[in-house]
Amino acid sequence: MPKLKTRIDRASADFQRNHADNTALAELLRERQSWVVSGNREREIRRHLDRGKMLVRDRINCVVDPCSPFLELSTLAAFGQYDDQSPGAGIVTGIGMIHGIHVMIIANDATVKGGTLFPQSVEKHIRAQRIAEENRLPCLYLVDSGGAFLPTQDRSFPGKDHFGKSFFNQCQMSTAGLPQISVVLGGCTAGGAYVPALSDEVIIVRGIGRIFLGGPPIVKAALKEIVDAETLGGAELHTYKSGVSDLMVDTEEQAYSAVRSIFESLNWPRQNTFDRRPVSAPLYDPEELSGIVPTDYKVGYDVREVIARLVDGSDFQEFKPAYGTTIVTGFAFIHGYPIGIVANNGILFSESALKATHFIELCNQRGTPLLFLQNTTGYMVGQQAEEAGIAKDGAKMVAAVACATVPKYTVLIGASFGAGNYGMCGRGFEPRFLFAWPNSKIATMSSETAETVLVDIRRSGLKGGTEEELEELKLGVRQQYETQSDPFYATSRLWDDGIIEPGQTRDVLGLCLSLADRVPRAPARFRVFRM
Ligand code: COA
Repeated sequence: MPKLKTRIDRASADFQRNHADNTALAELLRERQSWVVSGNREREIRRHLDRGKMLVRDRINCVVDPCSPFLELSTLAAFGQYDDQSPGAGIVTGIGMIHGIHVMIIANDATVKGGTLFPQSVEKHIRAQRIAEENRLPCLYLVDSGGAFLPTQDRSFPGKDHFGKSFFNQCQMSTAGLPQISVVLGGCTAGGAYVPALSDEVIIVRGIGRIFLGGPPIVKAALKEIVDAETLGGAELHTYKSGVSDLMVDTEEQAYSAVRSIFESLNWPRQNTFDRRPVSAPLYDPEELSGIVPTDYKVGYDVREVIARLVDGSDFQEFKPAYGTTIVTGFAFIHGYPIGIVANNGILFSESALKATHFIELCNQRGTPLLFLQNTTGYMVGQQAEEAGIAKDGAKMVAAVACATVPKYTVLIGASFGAGNYGMCGRGFEPRFLFAWPNSKIATMSSETAETVLVDIRRSGLKGGTEEELEELKLGVRQQYETQSDPFYATSRLWDDGIIEPGQTRDVLGLCLSLADRVPRAPARFRVFRM
């Protein structure tokens, strides 16, 4: 395959400026991630440790294979929401390896309001289950949760995708042969109790693990019965009498060792579906991405420089390089797995949309997974573009993305505006994973366009307004768009599966692709046709 050549000059002022800007963003990301791990709850962490309990990430470290990677998802969920009472939404989700099997781990953080679930916690839990379902991963639940966080119950309990959905998912996944294993590590109340009760196998740790549909306060309120937590739902009761737990152990370490034995004896199928080739590193260092990608999406650059740092050997079989040049399409390998890349290189015109549609169909026909690298302000507008049929051509691309049955992955590497978000496989188009870089922006349009549009609408509408009022509106819109298009705002609301640093992208994608390798290929749903 042809090799991509770089034109980057590491000594240039542009490279140095981009590097400084992206390094500052990466530092901000790490600072916020470490706040999630231990911020704002010193007393709660101390009490947790004093009770002889392990912190949530130590639990995960203890159960996964030594030195294996753990891909944590949506670390910054709920960031900046709920008065900062819910770091990480009080739940850790991610993919780890146990006895060589990739497992979705869903673990409550009891140092965050007793592991109770805020609306974003429920969303994060359900998103993790969705990823498990699509990638056929067993689920391990490390349960330490008081159920719903009651003050926000109207946004987490009754709706279609609220708490009930997580139990529905557990039942469906167990039916589909995806093992559901729970370890009970704290006071698991109400919803927290149904997680183990609906699992295939349950381990409980004596002294700390408790399961009850209603804890002592609820029992007191409902029946005026006074009973202590251990008597009501302790490990001995559930292992020797109720049978809700299958195995009681004395320590957390013993619990994780028992979990590992369960996975060792799963009889888990390991056949692969992709034509994997030996892995080779890119010719150019992925860390150079920080010097290549400008933090201002309005500054253009050649996206091939990004591709050259993501793919094996920087080998890229480009498709239709001379046509629709504002989109780059082509075949490559990442960590040995085949991938079809669709990457923005400017605004989307009719030709770019048609080329992308053709390429998506090729990938679908060949069973090659698709990677979308989003950096677009959307489809071209204006009389000329409309005459050329941008609406129908853009729609072809959107339809191809929606119908493609191959695994799809999206990384927001810059702007993600308007229908460009859809055509480039935004969240609504169900990519298997969607990650964002710290420099990305996501909104219906840029703040500059939004303020112009809204002021013009107001000026020509019934309400009108003085110049002063219009200026105030303009400032308000700009501020709103700038706040809401920020990647930290987006990740807090689960619009992605996490913010990753550019230099981590290749390895993260490699792990994601390795999951798809085990899932049988869905049949191609449409034939290749020329546009
Ligand atoms: N909703 C809202 N807040 C809750 C809560 C809930 N379901 N459960 C606990 N909290 C809060 C507590 O008020 C406390 O907040 P504070 O630190 O601001 O005072 C914090 O979470 C920690 O709770 P605490 O009881 O001090 O921690 P713990 O580790 O000793 O016990 C539980 C944790 C979850 C076992 C215990 O709080 C409990 O049983 N809660 C009730 C659970 C319940 O009834 N759920 C019903 C859901 S439908």
